Amino acid sequence: MFNSKMLITFVCLLSICCFFASSQNVLSSSQNTSSSQTTSLQDISTQDISFIYEEPIKGLKLYTTVTFTLDNSLMIWMAFEDKDPACMLPYLHLRLMNKTGRIKYMDFNYTLPLEAICPITAKLLPLTKNHAMITYVKLNNGVKEKYGIIINYSNESTINEIYLGNANGFVRRSIVPDKGLISIEKPDKEGIATWRLFSLPDITTGKVVERKNGEIHAPNLLSYTLVDSLNFLLTDGGFGFMYILKYDETKESSVIDPNLQYWRVYVSFLREGADSPTIPSLVYQTTKKLNNLTIKSCSVTYNAEGYVCIMTLNNTITNIKKSNKSQTEINYYQLRFLSTGALERLNIISNPTNNTDIDLITLYYGGFLVEHIHDAMDFYLLDDSGNYMQSQGSFGPEFVYFNIYTLNNTIVGIKNQTNNKLEFLLKSLPRLNNQSTDYYCPVIETTNPAINEVVDPSIKEIIIKYTIPVKLSTGNVSIFQQSDDSSKPALLRQTFSGDYKLCTVGSDNYTVHIPIFESTFSQSNSSYYVSVDNNFVISQERDEPLMGIGNKIWMLSTEPLKMVRYSDSVTGLLRLNEEGSLKFLQTNHSVFFKNMIREFSKTIPVAEQRLSTSGRWQYDPTSPKKILLSFNIKEAKDDHAIEPNSQTIFEILRTLIKQKRFTALSSNEYTSLIDESAPLIMTRNYFEEFRLLIIIFTVGLIVLIILYILARQKNPEAKNSVIFETYFIIQDFAVDLAFVLLKVKNTPHLKIPTMIFFILPIVINILFAINIFVSEMANNKSFSNWVKGSTAISSICTLFSAFDIQILNTLSSDLFGLKVFSIPLTQRSRKIMLWGSIINIFIEDVPQIIIQGLYYNSVITYDLIPSLAIASGGLIILNKLILRSYHALIRWNHQRDKIKEYNKNRHLSAASIRSIRSNVGN
Ligand SMILES: *[C@@H]1O[C@H](CO)[C@@H](O)[C@H](O)[C@H]1NC(C)=O
Ligand SMILES: *[C@@H]1O[C@H](CO)[C@@H](O)[C@H](O)[C@H]1NC(C)=O
Ligand SMILES: *[C@@H]1O[C@H](CO)[C@@H](O)[C@H](O)[C@H]1NC(C)=O
Ligand SMILES: *[C@@H]1O[C@H](CO)[C@@H](O)[C@H](O)[C@H]1NC(C)=O
Ligand SMILES: *[C@@H]1O[C@H](CO)[C@@H](O)[C@H](O)[C@H]1NC(C)=O
Ligand SMILES: *[C@@H]1O[C@H](CO)[C@@H](O)[C@H](O)[C@H]1NC(C)=O
Ligand SMILES: *[C@@H]1O[C@H](CO)[C@@H](O)[C@H](O)[C@H]1NC(C)=O
Repeated sequence: MFNSKMLITFVCLLSICCFFASSQNVLSSSQNTSSSQTTSLQDISTQDISFIYEEPIKGLKLYTTVTFTLDNSLMIWMAFEDKDPACMLPYLHLRLMNKTGRIKYMDFNYTLPLEAICPITAKLLPLTKNHAMITYVKLNNGVKEKYGIIINYSNESTINEIYLGNANGFVRRSIVPDKGLISIEKPDKEGIATWRLFSLPDITTGKVVERKNGEIHAPNLLSYTLVDSLNFLLTDGGFGFMYILKYDETKESSVIDPNLQYWRVYVSFLREGADSPTIPSLVYQTTKKLNNLTIKSCSVTYNAEGYVCIMTLNNTITNIKKSNKSQTEINYYQLRFLSTGALERLNIISNPTNNTDIDLITLYYGGFLVEHIHDAMDFYLLDDSGNYMQSQGSFGPEFVYFNIYTLNNTIVGIKNQTNNKLEFLLKSLPRLNNQSTDYYCPVIETTNPAINEVVDPSIKEIIIKYTIPVKLSTGNVSIFQQSDDSSKPALLRQTFSGDYKLCTVGSDNYTVHIPIFESTFSQSNSSYYVSVDNNFVISQERDEPLMGIGNKIWMLSTEPLKMVRYSDSVTGLLRLNEEGSLKFLQTNHSVFFKNMIREFSKTIPVAEQRLSTSGRWQYDPTSPKKILLSFNIKEAKDDHAIEPNSQTIFEILRTLIKQKRFTALSSNEYTSLIDESAPLIMTRNYFEEFRLLIIIFTVGLIVLIILYILARQKNPEAKNSVIFETYFIIQDFAVDLAFVLLKVKNTPHLKIPTMIFFILPIVINILFAINIFVSEMANNKSFSNWVKGSTAISSICTLFSAFDIQILNTLSSDLFGLKVFSIPLTQRSRKIMLWGSIINIFIEDVPQIIIQGLYYNSVITYDLIPSLAIASGGLIILNKLILRSYHALIRWNHQRDKIKEYNKNRHLSAASIRSIRSNVGN
């Protein structure tokens, strides 16, 4: 039901020149009156903004406007006029204008109950981002009662009517957004009233439920009667009651005591979470026999001086000198009291006008605003003590509606409607101090990191600097991650109250240090916000709770993920507490695991596919009633550029578990059953992950040993150790192959070198093998016979020689005395094999070991394959070096003997020396 017709012009004249260029000139009076003594305050007009709203539906008239303190938005309620001027037509048309000036049009299908609109008693009470309540008075069996309906203006639905109490009650939302709303009846003659606490509308169903109710009793004093009562909001989210009592002269006719207090004012507090209000405390009494004492409104003071109420005393003074002429005098006072009920300050507030028909408003950033509405509206600014600041402004006579944005100290005036046009003028009031408005909390000076800063995920603490000395209290400080989908609730990252010993106050008493968990800013490229509850800290001077920082004000963000070091899947073992262990045993295990994984995935947060379980569990040997569960965190898939690696997820989960009570884990059904006293431990279960590989290699090795023993028995003369040599070579090749196929993709920069040093040795070894075969076939008769006799074996051997030419050794080893292993190789071939295997060290074994080393350096967890690759590579090199040096030693010894011999009988031919030398090679 959006009305998207862009018939609307929305003009913001932001600069003063534009403003004066426009036709309005309502500011002239303020310009003249600003005096020189308050230079910083005189130029009220500079931030004025004016714009025109055009209503797309013909005939709709402005009924009222409501400012939403939650986010400084303005709700414009348009209505059709009825013929009866006391009534309007029952269609609901709301226009929500947000901070950016965007307007959302809501023309509800729903029609308001007749009681609400004829006569008009409907009022709009904003509740949450999407919900508001319309309250109205309805006659029930001749008794006037108050009801409310919840409207959801995002999907434009309404929810059932709720009963709020008698007609003149007070209905307000708590200062702390999620603490719900209260309705307090007007007390009856005995001073008794019922209060009812309701929840806020449920995000999905919009339902409001009554949470608590009770009675309040005005102070029951003999010979005093309750004149009036009012209610106000407490900083901690609770509600306050104020009673005005008057001495009843008719009850006692005896001589009047000169100390008799004619008027008394009491306050009582229904603190957040309490079931009944405190005993009323006396905050004001007077012996003056006033005409009347009225209290207009009470609000929270910006600087933790408790609450401030504006009290009006109407007194008749008789001027004896001037022929007993009597005259009424109206005095305005500010009455400040702490949440203990102790009086803090009482002083008169000046009235810069000569009129008693004024409105006094407490400003959020300190001071007071005096509004005098006559044919125009003049306003005056008073300081905290109620002194006139020589600062004033006015709206012209064409303005008929006024409202205030408390959060940014702005008055909005609306001109009398002409046709479908509404003209708005926003006047920003100067603040009495230069405190920051960024946090909408006047006692907060700065924070570190500042609003909208990009934070390092490893940040250890954040700091809030207050304008007054503070102590920690029971309110929470919480960090949320904003959901990508704005309709989903934000994700809690960490929360704890000020008195949890986690936060500390700096030595200057002005700063509060809040520790940050490793898991808090864990997600890259995300938005976070820090929310500080009221009463997170209290003032040192008065122990009075301070206001906090609302949601989505202190926004922070994290940088996009740039490079992620790969880590293989890891397995973590966690412990359930006793309750959890019991529940685990009682429920279907796979359901339990599944729910746990789902909750982990939401809380970490990480895609559910990254988490799995083998379903393994066991009793904890150290704590037999508790159960250990095993979970697996899978490695990131190929697009690991944007996914955190498994090691990071493990660390996040470990921190979450360690800090369970302060994280969202404790608010989930299943993860709350984790025993946070046992850390999440990583179990590297090689056997599980690489069962097959291990089995193959172990079986292979056993077979080899058996073969070796058999071969030795059969033919002790043969070079039986080639069995191991060959096995190592094959194993090394298999592991290298596995590495190339499975692992090297995790480190893109190693891909090319790995391929080069995998393929190059194969090619070179094959060339060597072909060379040997061709030359042997041509020159060695017995070789060609051997090939003919065992074609299959010889072709397999050529294939294997691609791994390492040294394998051909096996063919001439006389193993088992078998014919196939007795290939008669010439000295030339043996030489080629020797050099080939030495070359292999440099083109295969050493480079591969280096690559493995680099791989280790660029990943976080390594599993079996790279570990095996390094081990087998090392083994091969060692094997070759030992063998080579052993052979070289023999050769050298041999040669020395031969040379000695030669020296003895110098007639040996050069040919025989050559033959000796060649023999040494093996
Ligand atoms: C105060 O808030 C209103 C509504 O969000 C906005 O239009 C106005 O510009 C603000 N004024 C200043 C001075 O920021
Ligand atoms: C204002 O409203 C528009 C349209 O409803 C929305 O896109 C925008 O995000 C809102 N801006 C703020 C600051 O709430
Ligand atoms: C609006 O109201 C009419 C009649 O009251 C109803 O038929 C129609 O379905 C309603 N439309 C929506 C969108 O609720
Ligand atoms: C005193 O003030 C209260 C509250 O404004 C009002 O209801 C009452 O009628 C006044 N009493 C007199 C005597 O003016
Ligand atoms: C003050 O009291 C007198 C006498 O009751 C009354 O006439 C007058 O209207 C009152 N003034 C105000 C501003 O309430
Ligand atoms: C109030 O009255 C006094 C004397 O009658 C006059 O001097 C003063 O200018 C008036 N103030 C205002 C704001 O009208
Ligand atoms: C507003 O304008 C209408 C005519 O458009 C007029 O009848 C009415 O008196 C005006 N209201 C005020 C308060 O000026």
